[in-house]
Amino acid sequence: MSRPVFVHLLPSLFEPEILQDGVAVVIDVLRATSTIVAALNSGAKCIIPCGEVDEARQISSRFPTGAAILGGERGGMRISGFDFGNSPAEYEAGRVNERTIVFTTTNGTRALNRARLARRVLVAAMLNLSAVVAALSAESGTIHIVCAGTDGRVTLEDALVAGTIVHCLEVKGLDFDLLDDSTRLARSLYLTQSQDYDGTLALFRTSRGGLNLIDCGLDSDIAFCARVDQFAIVPELFASDGEIRVAGQTRA
Ligand code: MLT
Repeated sequence: MSRPVFVHLLPSLFEPEILQDGVAVVIDVLRATSTIVAALNSGAKCIIPCGEVDEARQISSRFPTGAAILGGERGGMRISGFDFGNSPAEYEAGRVNERTIVFTTTNGTRALNRARLARRVLVAAMLNLSAVVAALSAESGTIHIVCAGTDGRVTLEDALVAGTIVHCLEVKGLDFDLLDDSTRLARSLYLTQSQDYDGTLALFRTSRGGLNLIDCGLDSDIAFCARVDQFAIVPELFASDGEIRVAGQTRA
């Protein structure tokens, strides 16, 4: 049976209600969704995405000392008083294992919260690309690929990941219903650019999100986030409790 697939190049370009009954995949490859994938792969118990800094502080204060980590950024930099910033490499096994991460970023966590009405909300990055494609192939219903963008503007780095997912679904033989123009645009971006690591890195470095990170002296994060299939997990946001955990794992 053929399935509709839509790429939304920004969270503001769809009404949340249209995601109902569908599967949403949220992408903020530089860096929120890459960091979520890395943290859960390192054994973090769960991630709680928050739209606002005060909300994150309040939620983390409810945990016993040491059980939660406050992580995230504003303007690309670690927020004052927070334990971690938004660099995926910070979230190492020895530091995050079995801990809850209360997390807020400028665009990524807001995009995740806007996608909450979907039947399932998955989290994608280059780091877990094949795992996400496999999870989507196994699902039924409409697929909504949601790009976080940067400060309300479309970004090439998220569009590239979206286009890569569309292409991989096609290669897997998924029978698409009508691709809309944004979806075709994202797919063309993937098809017309050099598809190896160096090509991805070059595009990331010149994209809106990449240029912001270079300004912050965080070029090494771009190199980390451009790597494909480092981790085989799919994070999932569960609307019932607002936590992101590894899909298919039972709650500890
Ligand atoms: C975001 O959510 O806006 C990004 O992850 C920004 C960043 O990485 O600095």
